[in-house]
Amino acid sequence: MKLHQPTQLLNNETCIIDAVALLKAGECVALPTETVYGLAADATNANAVAKIFTAKGRPTNHPLIVHIPDKTHMQQWAKDISDSAITLANAFWPGPLTLILNAKDNLNSPVTGGLPTIGLRVPAHPQFLAILKQLNTGLAAPSANRYKQLSPINAAHVMGDLNGRISAVLEGGQCDVGIESTIVDATTDQLRILRPGPINAADILQKTGLNVATPLAHNEVVPGNVKAHYQPHAPAILINTDDFDSHLSKITDEQVQYLIYSTAAQQHLLASHIAPHRITKLSSCPVEYAKNMYKTLHLVDETSPTVIYIEKPPVNVEWAAVNDRLNRATTVYKE
Ligand code: TXA
Ligand code: MG
Repeated sequence: MKLHQPTQLLNNETCIIDAVALLKAGECVALPTETVYGLAADATNANAVAKIFTAKGRPTNHPLIVHIPDKTHMQQWAKDISDSAITLANAFWPGPLTLILNAKDNLNSPVTGGLPTIGLRVPAHPQFLAILKQLNTGLAAPSANRYKQLSPINAAHVMGDLNGRISAVLEGGQCDVGIESTIVDATTDQLRILRPGPINAADILQKTGLNVATPLAHNEVVPGNVKAHYQPHAPAILINTDDFDSHLSKITDEQVQYLIYSTAAQQHLLASHIAPHRITKLSSCPVEYAKNMYKTLHLVDETSPTVIYIEKPPVNVEWAAVNDRLNRATTVYKE
C-alpha cells in the first residue's frame, strides 16, 4: 500500500479544520472518542472506507460502526427503526452505545460488511462531534488499532500502531471511558446486548424501562467478533486468585508482569518477593478497571515482558465488558 510518511499529529488550533479537510478529501484520520480512538473516514465514500480496512489489515466482511452527528441522521442509514431504538438513542446519545439497526435498502456501502444491518452511534467527544457537525454526514470508525491489537486510548497508542499507514491523528488526550461502546441489537423487539460495554442492561432498564437480553459470555457470532482480539504483543494468561500460591512457587522468570485487581493477589505476590515494579494493581471496581485496562495493558506490554499474568476478574454482569475483552486477549492458566 501507499504509505503516508509520516502520519501527521494534528495538535494545534487548526486541528479540527485540518481533520475536516482531510476527511473531505477521502483520507483516514484517527479521532478521539469518549471510549477509544477511532479510525475515521467518510462513510459515504467507498474509497475512503476501503482505506480503513487496508490500514487496519481488517477483513472486509467485518462491519464498521457509522458515527453520526445526532439522531436525526439515523434515517439516512437505517430503516424500520423501532420505538425502542429511538428510546435508547434519546437516553444514551451522545454516548457509548452502538445500535444495530436494519440497514436502509440499497445502501450498498462497505461499512456493513455485506450484512443487512448497520451499527450507528453518536459519540460523546467534543472534537469528534464538532467534526461530524461540520461534515454533516456519517463517519465510519473502528477502533484505531491494527487488526486484533489493543485498542488505543491516546494519540501515542495510535501512532505506535498506525504511523505511516494513515494521514493523521487528532490529539484529543486520554479517552474518558477507556473501553469500546456497548453494542445492542435493536433490529427486533427483543433487544440484545451483542458486545458488553460501559452501559449495561441494568443501566438501560433504569433509564428507559426497556429489558435487554444480556449474554454473560459474549458468544454472539458477528463478523469481527473473533475469539482472538484486543491482544498485547506479549502472551497474556488469565489466572485465578486462588492459583497464585502454587503458580508463584514455580515461577523463576524475572521478565514476567502481573496485572491484578485484588488485595489478596497483591499479598500473595509481595509475600513471594515479586518486585513491586512487576506488579500493577488495577481497581476492584469494574468501571474503574475498564477505564484503565487498555492504558495499563499498553504500559505493561511496553516493558517487553515474556508473559503478562492477569488475575481473572469475577464472572458477573458488572464485569462482563472487562471479561469479554480479557477473554479475547488471553489464554487460561493451566497448572
Ligand atoms: O466504542 C466503540 O464502539 C469504538 C469507537 C471508535 O466508536 N469503535 C469500535 O469499533 O469498537 P470496532 O470496529 O473496533 O468494533 C465494532 C464492532 C465489531 O465487532 C463489528 O463486528 C460490530 O461492531 N458491528 C459493526 N456493525 C455491525 C453490524 N451491522 N452487525 C453486527 N455487528 C456489527
Ligand atoms: Mg476494535
